[in-house]
Amino acid sequence: MYYLNIKNLTKKYGENTVLNNINLQVEKGNFISLLGPSGCGKTTTLRLIAGFEDADYGEVIVDGEKINELPVYKRNIGMVFQSYALFPHMNVEQNIAYGLEQRKISKQEIKKRVEEIIEMVQLKGFEKRKPKQLSGGQQQRVALARALIIKPRLLLLDESLSALDKKLRVEMQIELKQIQKKIGITTIFVTHDQEEALTMSDKVAVMYKGEIIQIDTPENIYEYPKTSFVADFLGQANFFRGKVISKQNELYEILLDNNKKFKFESTKPVEIGDNIILTIRPEKMNIHKEKPENTHFIKGKIEFVTYAGDNSLYRIKSLDKEVKVQKQNFKRDFSYNIGDEVYISWDKKSSLILYK
Ligand SMILES: Nc1ncnc2c1ncn2[C@@H]1O[C@H](COP(=O)(O)OP(=O)(O)OP(=O)(O)O)[C@@H](O)[C@H]1O
Ligand SMILES: [Mg+2]
Repeated sequence: MYYLNIKNLTKKYGENTVLNNINLQVEKGNFISLLGPSGCGKTTTLRLIAGFEDADYGEVIVDGEKINELPVYKRNIGMVFQSYALFPHMNVEQNIAYGLEQRKISKQEIKKRVEEIIEMVQLKGFEKRKPKQLSGGQQQRVALARALIIKPRLLLLDESLSALDKKLRVEMQIELKQIQKKIGITTIFVTHDQEEALTMSDKVAVMYKGEIIQIDTPENIYEYPKTSFVADFLGQANFFRGKVISKQNELYEILLDNNKKFKFESTKPVEIGDNIILTIRPEKMNIHKEKPENTHFIKGKIEFVTYAGDNSLYRIKSLDKEVKVQKQNFKRDFSYNIGDEVYISWDKKSSLILYK
């Protein structure tokens, strides 16, 4: 039995279907990310689970109990909002204790639990400060402590790290994961940062226009996306769209949308007449100055290079389209330059055939 089971969840605002039949199953203690572009329905999903909105259709079941008709305060779910929503006139301690005071818990018990949680989120020494006297990362910790102190059945985090700068965000990602693991709390984390979703999650659910397109482990969703949308949203990808016009063992030829013909090998069989999208990630392609042997390749001309420290991205005009190739900068070898004629190769196992 799944700890969290969302069945056919549907939400409309007027004529606009914002969530269309969402199904999501989460095992106890797992960390799931909802990843998708702005407006796809991530926050709405969290709001329906927490009870801030009512669903038009569907069920939310936590630990065997149907909760979607319960009022917010009876659901016992911790939510951290993107804006943190801390009470500005209360200090750290008071902000954290608020949820327990609402629940009429004894002063002594509150004191003990506030101390414990302040220790856990590393806010010792900051108890008397007001939110505006804290950094973004510290405010984030207060918001997390406030959500966790009620010992919620589920933790919902809405883009809660996105206000932090990159370095602090990565630190908070690790801290958040450690706390989550330690308490073993089942967590749904909303983000539109694909790297954050991949590094933190047991599973990633990719959403688009109110639907979950794919839910899978980070590795599977990156290496084996089911659609070109998922491939494109999680990192970068080259797409060669066209119709298969010939086949011989593992060697195929396609007529691309732009009327160029293109030969490639594939371990996955496709049929003549199929409309396919051959998909290859930029880091799985290689560039060469000389014609590579024993592999099939395409020829092109470097049009643009973006240096990003550990890697460089080469935009290469090939087959009348732009092909992106990423190269790790292991050595200080920057001998490929704009205007160079190059060959691009890849292993047939690195490509993927998609149909939409
Ligand atoms: N109260 C509301 N009334 C009408 N439409 C709404 C309401 N709340 C959200 N929407 C619409 O529902 C859709 C989904 O919104 P939601 O906030 O869930 O998106 P999101 O995936 O969280 O996006 P973002 O990444 O920008 O936060 C959007 O088109 C939004 O305009
Ligand atoms: Mg949102």
